[in-house]
Amino acid sequence: MKIAIINGSARKGNTLTAINSFIKGASEGNEIEVINPDKLNIAPCKGCGACQCHKGCVDKDDTNPTIDKVAAADMILFATPVYWWGITAQIKQVIDKCYCRGMQMKEKKVGIIVIGGAPAGDKQYDLIKSQFDCIADYLAWDVLFYKPYSANGKDELAKDIEAMKEFEMLGKALEK
Ligand SMILES: Cc1cc2nc3c(=O)[nH]c(=O)nc-3n(C[C@H](O)[C@H](O)[C@H](O)COP(=O)(O)O)c2cc1C
Repeated sequence: MKIAIINGSARKGNTLTAINSFIKGASEGNEIEVINPDKLNIAPCKGCGACQCHKGCVDKDDTNPTIDKVAAADMILFATPVYWWGITAQIKQVIDKCYCRGMQMKEKKVGIIVIGGAPAGDKQYDLIKSQFDCIADYLAWDVLFYKPYSANGKDELAKDIEAMKEFEMLGKALEK
């Protein structure tokens, strides 16, 4: 499978740790690309609607090459820290820009990893799940997993051996 991983964090912290463990498990037999929106120049969606009549987004920045990669993927992994009870702006920025290829985003396999400082069971993990459930319903996504984790300090998740194993197994369990 072609897998596009969207990294919602700007720092080398828990989200990157989770992504790297997932890749460790998934690397054999899959083609993986990590998209780091924080390192790209992607303007926010203006809602101009021009993409509905023309091919792609009118913004002459990294939007189209990024969305090309997401549209070409068989599976998308969204990996995001919790910021203010929600997903980060970096993840949302890419999701918003997917609007310019709405139909090409249909029927993807999807995985979601969410990492927040608040303990498991906090309302924020349900809020984020609800948002992804709505998008998945709209785009007929096959959601393979939704995994919320609690870690705050940037090295914290790396010390959670069980979580590390679980991310790797999520990668390993993918069909090739
Ligand atoms: C701007 C900002 C807002 C945050 N808001 C929340 C929040 O609402 N809930 C929460 O549990 N953690 C919140 N956090 C903590 C991060 O989710 C947590 O530190 C996470 O592990 C960061 O992931 P990273 O190491 O991959 O960047 C916030 C952190 C920042 C910087």
